Amino acid sequence: MSAIATIIIVDQSGAEHRITAKQGETVMQIGRAAGLPIIGECNGSMACATCHVIVAPAWADRLPPIGEDEDATLDTLFNLSPTSRLGCQIEITAALDGLELSLPKR
Ligand code: FES
Repeated sequence: MSAIATIIIVDQSGAEHRITAKQGETVMQIGRAAGLPIIGECNGSMACATCHVIVAPAWADRLPPIGEDEDATLDTLFNLSPTSRLGCQIEITAALDGLELSLPKR
């Protein structure tokens, strides 16, 4: 399947990574494949929060709403921000072309 969106991820050093993604991939999967420190220890079962990303405010309302389980897992983080999400729960669609995210400070 061909790429349908380019996602921009700013790492902890401020470097910007433009990553092309295919339909149905998750931010956790593409970030991990690009070698970014998005660990995804539980492989997307919402148990680890090691896929924590911060969504650029302009994009926050354009993502599907946070579910109860995602919310509970996010609550375990000490570095939570108002637009924090689990990368494993953001599935790429063409509508997310240009999505901007950053990685939380450790
Ligand atoms: S990969 Fe574990 S919560 Fe997302």
